[in-house]
Amino acid sequence: MKVLAIETSCDETAIAVLSCTGNRVRVTKSLVSSQVPIHMKYGGVVPEVAAREHVPETVHLIREALGKQGVRAFDAIAVTNGPGLPTALSVGVEAAKVLAYLSGKPLIGVNHLEGHIASAWLNATNRKKWAFPLLALVVSGGHTEIVLMKDFGKYTIIGETRDDAAGECFDKCAKLIGLPYPGGPQIARLAVSGKRDACPLPRPMLDQKNLDMSFSGLKTAVRQAWETGAWKTRTEDFCASIEQTIVEVLVEKTMQAVKMHHPKGVLLVGGVSANAYLRASLGKRLQQDAPETAFFPSDRMYITDNAAMIAAAGYWNLQRGKTTNWKKIDVRPDWRLGTV
Ligand code: KG4
Ligand code: ZN
Repeated sequence: MKVLAIETSCDETAIAVLSCTGNRVRVTKSLVSSQVPIHMKYGGVVPEVAAREHVPETVHLIREALGKQGVRAFDAIAVTNGPGLPTALSVGVEAAKVLAYLSGKPLIGVNHLEGHIASAWLNATNRKKWAFPLLALVVSGGHTEIVLMKDFGKYTIIGETRDDAAGECFDKCAKLIGLPYPGGPQIARLAVSGKRDACPLPRPMLDQKNLDMSFSGLKTAVRQAWETGAWKTRTEDFCASIEQTIVEVLVEKTMQAVKMHHPKGVLLVGGVSANAYLRASLGKRLQQDAPETAFFPSDRMYITDNAAMIAAAGYWNLQRGKTTNWKKIDVRPDWRLGTV
């Protein structure tokens, strides 16, 4: 089965084709057109600009992915229909509807976060060791969730942020100290040569027994420290302290979840999982405190938004007989993972 996937939930237009036979999958096309340079001037994603930019890029990338084969290049279509920016999602969904109508081939609406989870499955080594139950730390610009996955398609959110997402926190802290959007990679770059304990910052909810997190207080503490302290001359130390705080909260809460649920493996997915310090810290803690639990980070090329991961999640659904009627598919900006 060849799955064509479309992803336009935020500021990346992405199209992919995945060839699948049973447990064997191969990404034959993965095209991503990023709008980051466009949104950089505004210091964040502007939804209406994002939607408008998606239109020509979606057409252009679909054309490129299909080539001369046209609709013969795929057997099914997967499209992200939530969560995400409403108008941005609509562009991908409308394109998918047209393709489904013209080709007569099945369509499946995919949850963007299930896509991030499936990104770890695109790695052949992870796929071989894949066994349920799994735990996923999903950390992106819009979401921070600890998800218990009992089977393909069976998700329960067991912990989440009560306010800002970890990526959003990275981005807002970076903006406060004058770094360009997206701030996560900027903070990570400077943190490498900084002292991680230089600036004491709060770790809200870390001592609480539940698996929820909170990052909005950290942003406020960062603002106060930046405005009153002498950090402007020690930006590296300040960035290292911010990164340390966010990573510590994510790792501690994930380890708490591991102790409670004894998963066979832990997935680390979403844009923030590009953070090298987070990958290393979580990998190390798992090895130390839960050596029997496998660690499944996704490959670098499928960490930030892409369509190969949407194709993989679409394939999971299609294999289980799920499809979405093209006449009825809807954009679901607030679609919570694990709800139908
Ligand atoms: O998953 P993603 O590409 O888009 C969403 O679905 O939100 O995630 C984007 C987020 C941004 O907040 C960005 O700052 C963050 O991922 N990010 C990082 C790093 N690379 C990207 N955060 C920390 N360290 C990084 N190296
Ligand atoms: Zn994402």
